[in-house]
Amino acid sequence: MLASALALAACDRQGAAQAAAVDLPPLKSLAAFPVGTCVQAVQLDDPGFAALVAAQVSQLTAEWEMKMEYIVQDDGSFRFDAPDRIAAFARTHGLRFFGHTLVWYAQSPPAFERLDAGRIAFDGAYRNYIHAVVGRYRGQAVGWDVVNEAVAEDGEGWRDSLWSQRLGRLEHMTLAFQHAREADPEAVLFLNDYNLENLPKKRATFLKLAEALLKAGAPLGGLGTQTHVAADLKAGELAAALKDLASLGLPIHLSEMDVSLSRAEGLIRDPAKLAAGQARVYAEAAEAFSSLPAQQRFAFTHWGLRDKDSWLKREDAADTPLLFDDAGRPKSAAAAWAGGLR
Ligand code: G3I
Repeated sequence: MLASALALAACDRQGAAQAAAVDLPPLKSLAAFPVGTCVQAVQLDDPGFAALVAAQVSQLTAEWEMKMEYIVQDDGSFRFDAPDRIAAFARTHGLRFFGHTLVWYAQSPPAFERLDAGRIAFDGAYRNYIHAVVGRYRGQAVGWDVVNEAVAEDGEGWRDSLWSQRLGRLEHMTLAFQHAREADPEAVLFLNDYNLENLPKKRATFLKLAEALLKAGAPLGGLGTQTHVAADLKAGELAAALKDLASLGLPIHLSEMDVSLSRAEGLIRDPAKLAAGQARVYAEAAEAFSSLPAQQRFAFTHWGLRDKDSWLKREDAADTPLLFDDAGRPKSAAAAWAGGLR
C-alpha cells in the first residue's frame, strides 16, 4: 500500500511519462536474491549505462547476442565476439552470467534449415551447436534457458518448430537438456516461457511439460517465467502464478520482467492510474518472489533498466515499462518494487 501511495504521489506531480526520480539504494542491495537485467554488448560502450548496471544488479542476461540469430552464421560458423564481451564485463564486475537461449521455436537459422532432412546430420549439428555455446561459457554461465517458449499460447500442447519437426516433439527438448548438461555439469538448466501469469491454461501445460521432461530424464533444473506484463494485470494473478510454478519445488527465475503502460488496455488512459497500476504490479512481483522458499529464488531479472533501452519502445516509443528513467534515475516504479520486497 505504501509503495503504491508513494508511486501515485510521485506521479500525480509529474504524470506517468515523466515519473519523478526517487532516492533508492542499489536494487541488489535491497533484495535477498540475485537481481538481473538484460544487456546488449553495444550498450557497454556507454560508461553511464555500464556504471548503472554494475551498481544496480548482480546478474546479466544477453538480450539477444547469445541466441542463434547472432551466433549461427549462414555458412554454419559461429561468432562469439558480443557474448564474450558481455561475459567479460560480468566477470570483471563480479556479476553472475545467465545464458539465453539455446533452442527457441522463433529462431531456426538457414545453416540448420538447409541441412538435409536426414536425421544424422541434423542431430550432429544440433549437438555441436549446444556443446560449442554452452561449453564456451562453462564455469561462467550460472544457468541457461535451454528451451524457450515451447508451449502453445492457447495451452493446447507444444509449439511446432524446425527442432520438433526434425528431432521430435519432446525429444528435441530432452536432447537439448542432455547436450547442455554434458557441456556444463554445473549450470542450472531452465525451461522458460511467457504469459504464464494471465493464461492459467498455458501455465498448466507448461508445468505438465516440465513434469514430462523430468520423467524423460532431462536434467531440468529450474523454471523461467518471463513476466512481460502490463499495468492492468489483475491483482493477485502474478502471485498465484509464482505459487503455482513453485509447486514442483524447482528454482524459479523471474526472467524478463517489464510492466508496459501502453499495452494496458484495461485502464483508462490516465497517467496517474497507469503509473499506480504499474507500481502495484511491480510490488506484487517483488512480494511474491520474496515469499518463495530461499532455495527456489534463483534470480529476479528485469528486461532492461532504463526505459529507453526497452524492446517495448519498438512497439510504442511512449511506453515507460522499466524501473529507471532514460537518465538512469530510479523511478517511482523502482520504489514500488523495492517496497514489495520481503
Ligand atoms: O543491433 C542490430 C543492428 O545492428 C542490426 O542492423 C539489426 C538488423 O536486424 O539487428 C539489430 O539487432 C536486433 C537486436 O534485437 C537489438 O536491437 C535484432 O535484429 C533483434 O532480433 C533483437 O530483438 C530481440 C528479440 O528478443 C529477438 O532476439 C530483442 O532485443 C529482445 O528484447 C527480445 O527478447 C525476447 C526474449 O529473448 C524472449 N522473451 C521475449 C523477449 C521480448 O521479445
